[in-house]
Amino acid sequence: MSLEQAAARAKALRREIERHNHAYYVLDAPTVPDAEYDRLFRELQALEAAHPQLISAASPTQRVGGKPLPEFAAVRHVVPMLSIRTETDTEPSGARAVDARVRRELGLNADDAAIEYAAELKFDGLAINLRYADGVLVQAATRGDGETGEDVTQNIRTVRRIPLRLLGDAPRVLEVRGEVFISRPDFERYNDKQRALGRPALVNPRNGAAGSIRQLDPAMAAERPLSFYAYGLGETAGWDVPATHSGVLDALAAVGLPVCEHRAVVQGAEGLIGFHARMREMRDALPFDIDGVVYKVNSLALQQRLGFVTREPRWAVAHKYPAEEALTTVEAIEVQAGRTGAITPVARLAPVFVGGVTVTNATLHNEAEARRKDVRIGDTVIVRRAGDVIPEVVAVVLDRRPMKAGGEALHAAFELPKTCPVCNSAIEKPEDEAIARCTGGLFCPAQRKQALLHFAGRRAMDIEGLGDKLVEQLVDNAIVKTPVDLYKLGLLAMVNLERMAEKSAANILAAIEKSKHTTLARFIFALGIRNVGEATAKDLARHFGNLDAVIAADADRLQQVPDVGPVVAASIVRFFAEPHNVEVIEQLRAGGVSWPEGEPAAIASSPIAGKTFVLTGTLPTLTRDEAKDMIEALGGKVAGSVSKKTDYVVAGADAGSKLDKARDLGVTIFDERQFRELIGR
Ligand code: IVH
Repeated sequence: MSLEQAAARAKALRREIERHNHAYYVLDAPTVPDAEYDRLFRELQALEAAHPQLISAASPTQRVGGKPLPEFAAVRHVVPMLSIRTETDTEPSGARAVDARVRRELGLNADDAAIEYAAELKFDGLAINLRYADGVLVQAATRGDGETGEDVTQNIRTVRRIPLRLLGDAPRVLEVRGEVFISRPDFERYNDKQRALGRPALVNPRNGAAGSIRQLDPAMAAERPLSFYAYGLGETAGWDVPATHSGVLDALAAVGLPVCEHRAVVQGAEGLIGFHARMREMRDALPFDIDGVVYKVNSLALQQRLGFVTREPRWAVAHKYPAEEALTTVEAIEVQAGRTGAITPVARLAPVFVGGVTVTNATLHNEAEARRKDVRIGDTVIVRRAGDVIPEVVAVVLDRRPMKAGGEALHAAFELPKTCPVCNSAIEKPEDEAIARCTGGLFCPAQRKQALLHFAGRRAMDIEGLGDKLVEQLVDNAIVKTPVDLYKLGLLAMVNLERMAEKSAANILAAIEKSKHTTLARFIFALGIRNVGEATAKDLARHFGNLDAVIAADADRLQQVPDVGPVVAASIVRFFAEPHNVEVIEQLRAGGVSWPEGEPAAIASSPIAGKTFVLTGTLPTLTRDEAKDMIEALGGKVAGSVSKKTDYVVAGADAGSKLDKARDLGVTIFDERQFRELIGR
């Protein structure tokens, strides 16, 4: 290939790669598969390696080219980088004040038309000026003091969303202003990776972005996941400047610069209020942090007329949202037990106003998180409250940690307590789980409502009518603490509950009474042992035959039960090791809860052990569930459909296609009487 041919090919490759970069990084809509992109990129790299004279700074291969700098060079801004007025009244009245001020400064009367504004987001990162000469990025500078900034071109070149060359016809000079930032997901991902490598994590996205751009080594900057949005202009020459700010942003997007889609052209104060409210709604769903919105008078001619005072233009105002992060101190670290027994460490804080409310507690999520963040009593911490999310401790400000004279921290690292703060039962934390839990499931007040609802559930003790609302009332009025109390309820206590008719109270008491006669499998399931679902409860009942055998079994014996592994076995052992739980069980039995108990051997000799049944139609005296319980108590299984594996079909009135299928396959068919004969009942 001649040098001329190579140059032509390199040029074509660059244009194509730039087009794909724009689609991928700016539009977020890839146009080629990664492999094809990689092929083009490697071809260009090979060409440039063979012909180094073809390499130019604007080539997509040259994103990370520079060496570490001793210091940044100063850059004088041709057009000063101004700062912005801030409206701190975060309510609609703030937007009204903004509009009123602009109208006054323009000398408008009440009957003059509404002002048109371009409304956009206020990004929370670092302001940058990008200078393109003949379409090529030649310099990037920080704001500095507004007159003079730092030359951070090498670092900015590593930001994939910033084009090294503009698309379309190139103006002689185009300076673009915008914000470099790190998105939340990129921030989390980057920090996870750093932690995994045992390297320091970034404190927050804003610091991360600013710190990355002010890195002297561009290779380091290149590792940081930086993003960019353009929001304005600096110097321009040979460019047709549009008549409005919104037109400027459209034009910047058209030459390949990333412009945020969340912007609008609105009219007057009401338009501003609407935008402020819409973006506030959207704020927590955005993948990056904003601390407010920015209103700009849309007409550039009007902007000129307004001019600026000292360093702030009169045509642009930042309208804030309540801060989502604040500093405060930790007064104590406690643990809480949740409805499911989950134990969560919580930091008690000196009251601080954040996210629009006063916060006094923040979650530390779990033991591992609390230790990772190493939050201690007396620490100054960053608290974050975004939207309706529970406030959390983001990080500790380590250099404000209270120390002893010897240079040692005043307070020790957090440790999870051994017992539940609510009921004193043992806390368990399986090796492979993040969450520690209270083991006092039947006894722990924090878990009462949940435990009772589960206990009464249709597949458990099947107490009809004992639902959410009733459990809520019974527990809140301290009438019921554990399932034992259900069986002590009298009509009087029930009728005294709000909105409880005597008839329904009597019905519920009858349902409670009826539930006393149950099966071992249902009873085990009703206990709410962690990891013991309905199927496992049935397996346990079948295998052991009686409850005392289950309670006495160690992990090894439990694992002889089909489908019971080490995790389930450990949960069961822990549950029965908690004396509070066993006490409740004893009281339930004493209160009359019973089930037909058998020896495991009795099941082995049962005529239907291991046989598969299908139930169809309506039986004269047994419900589906009752028949199912009887079969399972004797070691049989109940399947939903008839197949070659079906041993017996028990059919009642109005049996349908299952019966036909059983006949087709020659499966033995029983009615209820014959079924009772078979099982000897
Ligand atoms: S315009 C003449 N627009 O806010 C006003 N600034 O300016 C010049 N900022 O650190 C700024 N989002 O980087 C403008 N949509 C936006 C912005 C924005 C964030 C930052 C800017 C600077 C600060 C004050």
